[in-house]
Amino acid sequence: MANGNGKGFVLWFTGLSGSGKSTLSKLVEERLLERGVPVEVLDGDEVRTNLSKGLGFSKEDRDTNIRRIGYVANLLARNGVCAITAAISPYQEIRDEVRSRVEQRATFVETYLDCPMEKLLERDVKGLYKRALAGEIPHFTGVSDPYEPPLKPEVVVYTGGEPPEQSCARIVKTLEMLELVPPVPGDDYGADEEAAVAARLRDLGYLG
Ligand code: ADX
Repeated sequence: MANGNGKGFVLWFTGLSGSGKSTLSKLVEERLLERGVPVEVLDGDEVRTNLSKGLGFSKEDRDTNIRRIGYVANLLARNGVCAITAAISPYQEIRDEVRSRVEQRATFVETYLDCPMEKLLERDVKGLYKRALAGEIPHFTGVSDPYEPPLKPEVVVYTGGEPPEQSCARIVKTLEMLELVPPVPGDDYGADEEAAVAARLRDLGYLG
């Protein structure tokens, strides 16, 4: 059994450029490896240099990119691996399409990295928002192209206001509650936070 319980899953990050998908995927990867869970990260930028090389940012190209990422993530998940995906994935319909494929054999954990535009503009690590606002990058997500926040994400993390470790802890706690990763004895996640995670999952029909 690959990860102690044999259940593969897809941890699907979605959020605007600069919301912390790459950072958080690496942090969660580390935490899961410590627990003996096999993990692969499919990072948006990396995927676009190999698997999706040549694709642009039209809706059609983005959909193709997301379907490819979903296809690979699904292959990994059904072989007992945790596949973490870190692409903007702006459209709910395509995320749902991937979800329904994954859910035939494994679990899909949609994770929304919620970060206010104000923070993204302030950080602007890659300098892309500045260029997009100046009209130099057409169809830039959140500026001149749509982003559809998830309707029913299993986890929401607030990457504009909480440290990455806190976001990471909430994600790992959710995975524990879904019995996708083994719990760690003495893990001191706050009782209030834990109750909030349980409430969200119960609302979504998990936890019996
Ligand atoms: S997705 O829409 O197909 O999911 P993906 O996550 O692969 O996007 O790529 C997003 C990254 O590409 C951004 O973080 C940014 O660095 C870069 N990028 C270049 N042009 C755009 C654009 N028009 N919209 C969004 N991101 C862009």
